[in-house]
Amino acid sequence: MMKIRKKVKLKKKVFLLMALGIMIPLAFSSFKNISFAMPVLGTDKESKSNLINEYINNLSNLVEKKEIDSRFVNVISLEDDRYISKLFNFKTGEEVNIESIIKPEMVEEFWSKVNKLLYLKYPNFISDVLSKNDKTNTYFVKDNELVIYYYDYEIDPLPNEELSLHINYNEIKDYMDITIKLDKTYENEDGSKIDLNKKIVALTFDDGPGPYTSRLIDILNNNKAHATFFMLGKNLSIYKDAVKKAYDNKMEIGYHSYNHKNFKRQKLETIVEEFNESNEILKSITGDTFHLIRPPYGSINEKIKESLDASFILWNVDTEDWRHKNTDYLKDYVLEKAQDGNIILFHDIHKSSVDAIEKLLPYLYVEGYQVVTVSSLANVTKTDLELHKSYRYFTR
Ligand code: NI
Repeated sequence: MMKIRKKVKLKKKVFLLMALGIMIPLAFSSFKNISFAMPVLGTDKESKSNLINEYINNLSNLVEKKEIDSRFVNVISLEDDRYISKLFNFKTGEEVNIESIIKPEMVEEFWSKVNKLLYLKYPNFISDVLSKNDKTNTYFVKDNELVIYYYDYEIDPLPNEELSLHINYNEIKDYMDITIKLDKTYENEDGSKIDLNKKIVALTFDDGPGPYTSRLIDILNNNKAHATFFMLGKNLSIYKDAVKKAYDNKMEIGYHSYNHKNFKRQKLETIVEEFNESNEILKSITGDTFHLIRPPYGSINEKIKESLDASFILWNVDTEDWRHKNTDYLKDYVLEKAQDGNIILFHDIHKSSVDAIEKLLPYLYVEGYQVVTVSSLANVTKTDLELHKSYRYFTR
């Protein structure tokens, strides 16, 4: 059996082995040579079960053996740094598949639930591939959850992590054909929840909303990413649906002036008037007002800052995407410059920028980044965004 071997962390498995107190000599029966193959079954049930027991006892790298409902036994072992799972029907002695513990009429619902949870956990470029369910899957039938490990799937770009799904039995209790325990509290693995162990950056989009904003929101959603849109007051009513869509999809909406005039060349009174007017428009669309401002050209002074009740958000990675309309250039530039806590500047009024984001997000994911809004980034770095103050990036 030729397989692409994936390095996995051995620590927890070694610990498990020790915990189980399993000490098995390296050289023994012929099972080692036919490692994953079924033992040859005898004719009667008892001899079949004995053979299964013998097979289990002879596994040099047994990780876990679990009897389920007195009918099944789930055996997990390690071969070449990857989990191998086998499920046996202990009564008939047959090796069976995971569908054997699912009610026959619920098999389809079961898989569709698995896929739904995959899409909740992983960006689409990963879940699109895993949901095909056509490569090596390893199943752990645990006390409270079913764990699936996914191997051999060709994903581009390739994530540098073990791909797995933990499915709490509460999610699939109606589909299970075995006695299961239900714990009271559980949480689904949700890839859009902020993971403090990952590097985190904020993506920001200025000068919109525009004709590509709606598609950009879809792209962000498909990649478990969120972003902050610094919008022009004059565009809010024109692209009302995009504004609403951004808000409904938990994107952050900031202010980027009414019509992109340099604040320093405007009367203070006009700046305040236009800000208030834009706030009213945003409120009529989303029910919310602006809390963040990005001044056009980053041009700001203390007097203007004091006059507007918001925090001022600048940036520390400028893609100059209005000049560089090459998607590969933009993708590579961000991958090269990105660091934890960065605020990255794009403009969603250019199609090439939106195309670049579509290329970039999977790479940011596999490089271990989580893409969030400015406020979330501030929150993660324990920065209180104060009114009348400006920020270029965050550190933690
Ligand atoms: Ni601008």
